[in-house]
Amino acid sequence: MKILIIGGTGKTGRHLIKQCLKKGHQVTALARKPDKLKYDDQNLQLIKGDVLKPESLEPAFKQQDAVLCALGHKRFFVKTNILSEGTKNIVRAMEHHGVRRLICITALGINDSKYRLGLYYTLFTIPLILYFYFKDKAHQESIITDSNLDWTIVRPAQFIPGRKTGRYKHGSKTGHFILTKLISRADVAHFMLQELTQERYLHQKPGISY
Ligand SMILES: NC(=O)c1ccc[n+]([C@@H]2O[C@H](COP(=O)([O-])OP(=O)(O)OC[C@H]3O[C@@H](n4cnc5c(N)ncnc54)[C@H](OP(=O)(O)O)[C@@H]3O)[C@@H](O)[C@H]2O)c1
Repeated sequence: MKILIIGGTGKTGRHLIKQCLKKGHQVTALARKPDKLKYDDQNLQLIKGDVLKPESLEPAFKQQDAVLCALGHKRFFVKTNILSEGTKNIVRAMEHHGVRRLICITALGINDSKYRLGLYYTLFTIPLILYFYFKDKAHQESIITDSNLDWTIVRPAQFIPGRKTGRYKHGSKTGHFILTKLISRADVAHFMLQELTQERYLHQKPGISY
């Protein structure tokens, strides 16, 4: 497949690129600083672009079969619309170029998965640290669910470093009210790639955790 990866310079995005290339997909990575990616692979194309600058997105979306989005940032304590605004531009570019399949990472704890990231996140981390970030993520989800695309929203538990195992839970009941469940970025990438070909969660928002 021809796959466009957004956020490919990030920690999850790098796993997505590596796993897509290993599966023989033709990969395009859209990045603000493509030089951060040092892969030498003829199936990887790097395109400079910023999701907040719609005009910079055009070349990347041409003739793609699917978009995998691992967009994120670290501006936690200020009001932000980077994820929602960026996703709005991604959805528009997909619609413009007739690319239908979008698989996008958000997080457990958002919208109808509220409380599923455990008590510590529910009572402390989300209200005190991630308030604006999660608000923006909730908006990001609604932009995706309101679109006419063939979308899947992937909601990971808390990230931990770790290898791809292929063994994890997924679905709407993932996560826990009291405990904070964990998942590696490598396994999140694995799940997204599986979803690309199996489409078990079309128009759904599965969580993923060990
Ligand atoms: N940490 C957790 O426990 C956890 C749990 C569940 C879900 N998540 C979510 O999972 C997602 C991925 O996390 P991660 O740790 O892999 O993220 P990350 O390492 O921070 O990577 C984020 C990626 O987004 C890119 N990006 C940011 N702004 C951009 C823009 N304007 N245009 C184009 N690209 C832009 C970054 O590019 P640059 O290299 O140019 O900055 C980077 O490639 C995030 O949304 C995160 O909130 C995290």
